[in-house]
Amino acid sequence: MSRIAYVNGRYVPHAEAGIHIEDRGYQFADGVYEVCEIARGNIMDMTRHLDRLGRSLTELKILWPMDRKALIAVIKEVVRRNRVRNGLVYLQVTRGVARRDHVFPSADTPASIVITAKRTDPQASAARAAKGIKVITVPENRWERVDIKSIGLLPNVLARQAAKEQGAQEAWFVDPDGTVKEGAATNAWIVTKDGVLVTRPAESGILRGITRTTIFDVAKKLGLKVEERGFSVDEARKAKEVFMTAATTVVMPIVAIDGESVANGHPGATTLSLREAFFDIAEKTPSC
Ligand code: PDD
Repeated sequence: MSRIAYVNGRYVPHAEAGIHIEDRGYQFADGVYEVCEIARGNIMDMTRHLDRLGRSLTELKILWPMDRKALIAVIKEVVRRNRVRNGLVYLQVTRGVARRDHVFPSADTPASIVITAKRTDPQASAARAAKGIKVITVPENRWERVDIKSIGLLPNVLARQAAKEQGAQEAWFVDPDGTVKEGAATNAWIVTKDGVLVTRPAESGILRGITRTTIFDVAKKLGLKVEERGFSVDEARKAKEVFMTAATTVVMPIVAIDGESVANGHPGATTLSLREAFFDIAEKTPSC
C-alpha cells in the first residue's frame, strides 16, 4: 500500500509529495511542527498538540493555514488514508513560499502545510521499554526559544547523531552548571528514592512536552507526587529511576547515562506503571 501525504490542499502519493524550493521552511527553517502518537486507532492528546501548535504559530507570527476544525478533519483523513492504527502523524506549517528575503513576505502569502502519517511497531517499542535505553550528555547549545516547536533542529540532530555514535539512543542537553534541560526530542525525568517524580519547569529553556503534561495527570491518578524543579546529571545518576517522555516514545526508561548504569541498570517499576497507565488517561480521538 502506498503512503499518502497532504500538501497544501492536496492528498498526494508520498513519493511524489514536494514543496517549492523557495518555501521558507526549506530556506530558513521558518516554521513549526507537531508530532502526535496514534495508538489503537486513536490520535492521542490531539487537543493539547493543536493548542501548542497555535502557541508556536502565534510566537512566530505565522497564521493558521486553515481553521482548527478543518485541520482536524485533514489529520484524520491522512491517518485514515494511510491506514495507521499505531504510529505517528507529523504536521508542519511554514511561513510559505516567497522570493528569498529574511524579512517576512507580504501578509497575503499563504502558510504551507504538510501532514504525513506513518506506522510504528508497538511491539518493538514495548521491547525497547522492557530493556530501557541509554543517553549521553551534551552541552546546551540551542537558542533561548526552545519553548517554540520550531523546525530548526540542527543542534538536536547533531546531539542525536552523537548519541548514536556512542551507542546511545538519546542525548540530554545540559547547562554549564550541570542541570539537565531535556533530550534532543524528549523531556527528562527522574524518580527519587522517595518515589517522587521530578522534571524541570517548562516556563523556559525546554519544550513543554505534551506527554510531559499528560504524565502529570497520570501521576495524579496513580497517587504519585510530582515536583517541578531542576535536577543535575549527578542527581540523575543516583536516582531510583530515570525516564524520558515524548509522543514518539511515550514513557521510556533510561538505564545508562554517559556509559554508566543508572537505576540498577533496569527499567523501574514506577516508570513502567506510568507507561502502562498512559493510554487510559490521555485524551483519545478516534481517527475514523
Ligand atoms: N519531539 N523536547 C523536545 C526538544 C522535543 O523535540 C520533543 C518532541 C519533546 C517531547 O514533546 P511531546 O511530549 O509533545 O512529544 C521534548 C518530537 C516527538 C519530535 O521531534 O519527533
